[in-house]
Amino acid sequence: MGEPDEPSTARMIDFWLGGEHHFDVDVAAAGAFEQAYGPCAPVFRELRAFLGRAVRAIVEQGVDGFLVFGAGVPTRGNVHEVAAEATVLYTDVDPVTIRLGQRILADSDRAGYGYGDATDIGTIDPAQLHRFVPGWGRRPVGVVFLGLAAFLDDATLTRTLDELYAAAAPGSLLAVDFDTEELAAHPQALAMMGPAFRMRPPAAFAPLLGRWTPTSDGILPVQRWRPVDPPAEVPDAFHGVLATRGAD
Ligand SMILES: C[S@@+](CC[C@H](N)C(=O)[O-])C[C@H]1O[C@@H](n2cnc3c(N)ncnc32)[C@H](O)[C@@H]1O
Repeated sequence: MGEPDEPSTARMIDFWLGGEHHFDVDVAAAGAFEQAYGPCAPVFRELRAFLGRAVRAIVEQGVDGFLVFGAGVPTRGNVHEVAAEATVLYTDVDPVTIRLGQRILADSDRAGYGYGDATDIGTIDPAQLHRFVPGWGRRPVGVVFLGLAAFLDDATLTRTLDELYAAAAPGSLLAVDFDTEELAAHPQALAMMGPAFRMRPPAAFAPLLGRWTPTSDGILPVQRWRPVDPPAEVPDAFHGVLATRGAD
């Protein structure tokens, strides 16, 4: 696969997690960001650990199919590695990351990767959806929506989460996170994220969930969401929540 011109936040995360699926341009961008922010690996390890705990919690509810948006690189403790019996469809909009994901999952018969714009679930290939998320719309599924909210304005995020609620069967669960205002203390790093990047205080995020009902854990810094060990001492960069879709 040729070297891409532009870095990707997803592949920068792969670099910070010690993965092998990134390019020189991603490493350069990760280094520049760390110059402005400080060490990122501990922060993203906590975000990935939150994904793991949230996915395990979804599996404990009897769910065995997952639809992942803004999936990034499907390694380093990603959904199909945690939910080892489940089927998983990873989706993203970045062609380079999609090709990487398809290569990584080429030998898997229970996890696939395809194009999917989270803001328009109609962009997902129906054949892939039904193969890897069987019973979509009829059986409860896990919807994973991590690392995406910062790229969507409030109106788009609200509509997107509501459309997912309407499409998913009752009993489905949603794992979602958002970027807090912590990054504002690092203006150079914030500027690198571009003008459309959105940080939100927890009170501003809660209403965007619409009909999705947060579990009793509430909306927490990801490292303090059902921690297995004492929570790591990392900046409160990301908050996360697990929410359920009730009956209509
Ligand atoms: C910060 S990365 C997070 C990757 C992964 N979820 C993780 O936590 O490692 C954001 C990802 O969202 C993707 N993305 C951005 N806008 C999107 C959209 N509208 N629909 C689907 N994916 C999108 C990007 O291509 C990128 O791979």
